[in-house]
Amino acid sequence: MTVVRDYKAFKEARELLDGSVGFVPTMGALHEGHISLIKRAVKENDNVIVSIFVNPTQFLEGEDLDKYPRKEEADIKLCELAGVDILFMPTIDSIYFEDEMKILAPAVAGYILEGAIRPGHFNGVLQVVMKLFNITRPNRAYFGKKDAQQLLLIEKMVNDYFLPIDIVECDIVRDSDGLALSSRNVYLSDDERKRALAISKSLKRAGKMIMSGERSVSKIKDDMIRLLKESVDELEYVEIVDKALNTISTVQEQNTLILVAAKVGNTRLIDNLWI
Ligand code: PAJ
Repeated sequence: MTVVRDYKAFKEARELLDGSVGFVPTMGALHEGHISLIKRAVKENDNVIVSIFVNPTQFLEGEDLDKYPRKEEADIKLCELAGVDILFMPTIDSIYFEDEMKILAPAVAGYILEGAIRPGHFNGVLQVVMKLFNITRPNRAYFGKKDAQQLLLIEKMVNDYFLPIDIVECDIVRDSDGLALSSRNVYLSDDERKRALAISKSLKRAGKMIMSGERSVSKIKDDMIRLLKESVDELEYVEIVDKALNTISTVQEQNTLILVAAKVGNTRLIDNLWI
């Protein structure tokens, strides 16, 4: 595995690759969720590139940019073990320039749900992903369903900008108790972690309601809200939407997303279920 830290070194390593390229962008502090994306990319491509870059432009003022977990050494080992060919860990200065061009998230889909709570967040995500796509030039890029709105907006960017990249949607990896893996789970105290389980439980229960025939979005939402409010400290949103992120009143099979965002202690957690 080659580890490179700027564009010039990356370009040299990239030129040596022969065959198809799979790309997994991350912000590091790698866990089994990230590794599942990397392993899938290794299986489906001749070469795999992983990037680790804590992207400053997607953090809002007052968010956890400075304390976002960083675990460089362990991350390098995990990538090596998983079979990564190039690990790109750029510095901020090698990615961003003064007074540079901007990619803007769509006016509606970028400013609802996560985008309403974190206005401008998706501009930063799309800006860095566009740069990383152009640097790495992958055939396929792998994203987790855990960040559902991010995944859908990246698919939209690929479509709207005619980027020749296949986006591969990867399933959410959970701990044995149901909590969706996240680099931010390390912020949770024991008590908070227990209370955070209400998030995945509420989604599981919604899934069961749908399996037993319930189609009313308001009934499912009410049940989830009741369960969540008993445990989380701040329920930011529970929404049931179609895959274009439009609100719906009836569950549509294969085209419904149930999304939750909540704070437990000071930690923001998101999770979702794809129906
Ligand atoms: P990060 O939070 O590090 O996540 C990197 C990728 O791992 C994303 O595609 C995310 O959806 C996926 N992922 C995280 N937890 C997961 C889980 N439990 N199961 C499955 N996949 C999971 O998302 C970002 O970084 C950034 O916004 C990025 C796209 C790298 C742009 O900066």
